[in-house]
Amino acid sequence: MSGSDASGKVPSVRSSRILSGIQPTGRFHWGNYFGAIRQYIELQTTGDAFYFIADLHALTTVREPSRLRELVRDAAIDLLALGLDPAHATLFVQSDVPEVTELTWLLLTVTPMGLLERCHAYKEKKTKGLPADAGLFTYPVLMAADILAYDATTVPVGEDQVQHIEVCRDLAGTFNHHYGDVFVLPKARVLDGSAKVPGTDGQKMSKSYENTLDLFETPASQKKKIMRITTDSRPMEEPKDPEADHLFALYRLVATPEETAAMAETYRRGGFGYGEVKKAVAAVAERFFADARARRETIAADDGLVEKVLADGADRARSQAARVLDRAKRACGLSLRKAGRA
Ligand code: TYM
Repeated sequence: MSGSDASGKVPSVRSSRILSGIQPTGRFHWGNYFGAIRQYIELQTTGDAFYFIADLHALTTVREPSRLRELVRDAAIDLLALGLDPAHATLFVQSDVPEVTELTWLLLTVTPMGLLERCHAYKEKKTKGLPADAGLFTYPVLMAADILAYDATTVPVGEDQVQHIEVCRDLAGTFNHHYGDVFVLPKARVLDGSAKVPGTDGQKMSKSYENTLDLFETPASQKKKIMRITTDSRPMEEPKDPEADHLFALYRLVATPEETAAMAETYRRGGFGYGEVKKAVAAVAERFFADARARRETIAADDGLVEKVLADGADRARSQAARVLDRAKRACGLSLRKAGRA
């Protein structure tokens, strides 16, 4: 834990502080799970962990209030069903911690425009000629505040978020350069082998590419999508390299090591049809997520449980973020009166 930082100094002795966020812009998919959520769960017992549902970031895409509320609740239920344990980790909703948006402003004052112009979410929209708002443009700064507000040391994410964590380190470094040792510099943590999970078309799995396999869709709907996964048109007899095939990449995520080794052998031998592999992917996927699916039903039926977890989480998160915000405000010469100090 960070201990008291009432002196305005960065705490010197710290254990690992893990933090990550996930947007409720649609139902979670395999990319979210194998790139990020699996890490959240693995790390929750190794340090002090904070995980949040990034509803402020989602506002740059979801503009339907009732849909957003529903997605936030679904996100919380999904995370709990997948194994996030509130006894170990603090789970909260981003907008329940207003300190973070105040911190965002402090960081914006040291953010070069050029840095944001190079960030991929904004750049992609611009290249496609789509209108981008200032929310999307400044998105990485809000994300930096999310991380810095908790003195995070480790940020488990998929590969697509690594650039944003570099931006966060840059901004923290610049702020520290101007105002002294205020922020802890975090590091991204990505998993070998699933930092960029492919979608059904072989590109990165992403809601915006409409190529996702969702975690809690019905097995029947999932199987349909799996059977439509694009494959190459080489003859069945030809031996194939499993490492170059996105269908195999998906299979290995949900299969046991023995099943994976056997499937790799089948690829190398040749003489198989992709239809058989697809059926195998669907079957092992159903098995892989069966327990989480059952837990999800119980959690969703437990009236008030999610609300309580999120309310407790928000309290814990706010008290951490308030300490860092005070430290940052004090360092750059702002009044702390609102926080009850002269
Ligand atoms: P988001 O909501 O797009 O994705 C949530 C997490 O899932 C990972 N991910 C993937 N990993 C591997 N392969 C894929 N195909 C794949 N698709 C998604 C993402 O890398 C991410 O870790 N900006 C963030 C949310 C955020 C955040 C933060 C994250 C807001 N503040 C602070 C970390 C720290 C985002 O849009 O993630």
